[in-house]
Amino acid sequence: MATLARNYFNKGFNKYPGPFLARFTDAWRFESVRSGKSHLNLQALHERHGDIVRLGPNSLSFSNPDALKAIYGLNNRLTKISKGYVLQSLFGTQDQDYHMKLRRTVSNAFSMTSIVQYEPRVNDTVRIFLQRTEELFAKSEKRCNFIHWLQYFAFDVITEITYSRRVGFVDRYEDVDGIIAWLDKIFDYQAPVGQMPWLDKLFVKNPIRTALSKYGYIDNSSGTARFSRARMAERLSGTYKKDSMDLLTMFLKAQKENPDFFDDGRLLTMTTSIALAGSDTTAISLAGVFYFLLRNPRCYQKLNQEIDDAIITGLISDAEGIITWSDAQKLPYLHACIQETFRMHPAIGMILERLVPPQGMEICDQFIPGGTVVGCNPWVMHRRRDVFGEDIDTWRPERWLVNAADLRKMNEVMFQFGGGSRTCLGKHIAYLEMYKLIPSFLRRFQIKACSDEEWDLHTKWFVKPREFDVVLTVKKSTSSKERLQNSQ
Ligand code: HEM
Repeated sequence: MATLARNYFNKGFNKYPGPFLARFTDAWRFESVRSGKSHLNLQALHERHGDIVRLGPNSLSFSNPDALKAIYGLNNRLTKISKGYVLQSLFGTQDQDYHMKLRRTVSNAFSMTSIVQYEPRVNDTVRIFLQRTEELFAKSEKRCNFIHWLQYFAFDVITEITYSRRVGFVDRYEDVDGIIAWLDKIFDYQAPVGQMPWLDKLFVKNPIRTALSKYGYIDNSSGTARFSRARMAERLSGTYKKDSMDLLTMFLKAQKENPDFFDDGRLLTMTTSIALAGSDTTAISLAGVFYFLLRNPRCYQKLNQEIDDAIITGLISDAEGIITWSDAQKLPYLHACIQETFRMHPAIGMILERLVPPQGMEICDQFIPGGTVVGCNPWVMHRRRDVFGEDIDTWRPERWLVNAADLRKMNEVMFQFGGGSRTCLGKHIAYLEMYKLIPSFLRRFQIKACSDEEWDLHTKWFVKPREFDVVLTVKKSTSSKERLQNSQ
């Protein structure tokens, strides 16, 4: 009883509105995440209560754009809270100095100059993906579980960029080594348990499981880690030669310059965690673009027209059926569709939590004492009427075809890649994949949704559709040259 009363009045937070149960315990957060609807719950709470909502005895959610600067601003040094990460990865580490050093060591590999050198690797996966799509689904017009299929693509393309080798999901049309099922299981467990971390000690990090794992009765190494280890070994022993640039080449270069800090263990952690950070997120974002296009036939038609016209007039080329990164930049409506998808459906559906430093700080004119868990959620930020207008629940790419001042106002609030020192390191790679695959896919296939219903979303850190089935057919369109002749 005393604990409940202490929680209720903790730091004077009883003045902030929020769910009744959240005033006493984190069980409300646990249940909200466990239900798979936390992104919707949070939206509804902010809609009802305004810019600050109490989500637990010690946690506050903010939705004012000023909070983004205060919490994630580059110089503010709030610690990222990431529970359950065993690896000292860039994504998971809470040690700010270690993070800064590691990020500096690898950042060159993610610069725009490096990214374009990975394009041939993306081409390889796009080519096989289009070919397999035709063989497996389009020829027979067989129903395609598109979200799974795009996950296979995203996992293969990120490993191709990293090691110049694919795991082989697309080639084999299977969840190789159960990697994707394993990942889903981890997130299903970790997301709710992360709201009450002591549960993790009870369920997983308990003495019995630790002992079983120590003596080899439980295998804690994932298929992704095994794949990474094998790829690194073949590269170091020289048994696999490659003819173009990839992330591993860049990391090995960084290791040469910094051998004591960036040792083999850290390099392996880096390559493994990239596959985990960059696959689901990209697959969901790709699926989002296709989903919204299918639900908005006018926009679907307009984007197809933009791509076809650009090819017919020679503005861009579709040599070998693949659109290049630089050509894709010439398609403003494509860009608008991608941005609007990031707004309506950011891949991450939970608050990006940060810990207020011991001395406390001001956020949105409120003094927030040290040790408080604070954060913003992209699903909430992207639905601010004062920034995006009254039609926030409508997917409308034209929103992004406006003047520079309006664009700046919206971009300042876009939070799909997080912000500040922990902002997504792979965002240019994600753009590279999306800008290439979407127009190349639309050129080759006609897509039809199998259902008119809205997709059912399930949030466990990532906001994933349970199902997104489509039927694909190969377009009758001919090569760009022939089309040009036809049009004359
Ligand atoms: C559309 C696709 C993607 C989305 C929406 C996305 C989103 C995010 C977000 C929101 C964060 C910040 C998390 C936080 O602050 O707690 C993040 C971090 C990160 N992402 Fe991405 N990501 C995407 C693709 C990728 C790709 C393709 C890669 C790798 C090539 C990648 C690698 C990383 C890494 C390494 C971090 C940790 C950065 C750090 O802490 O310094 N991401 N991502």
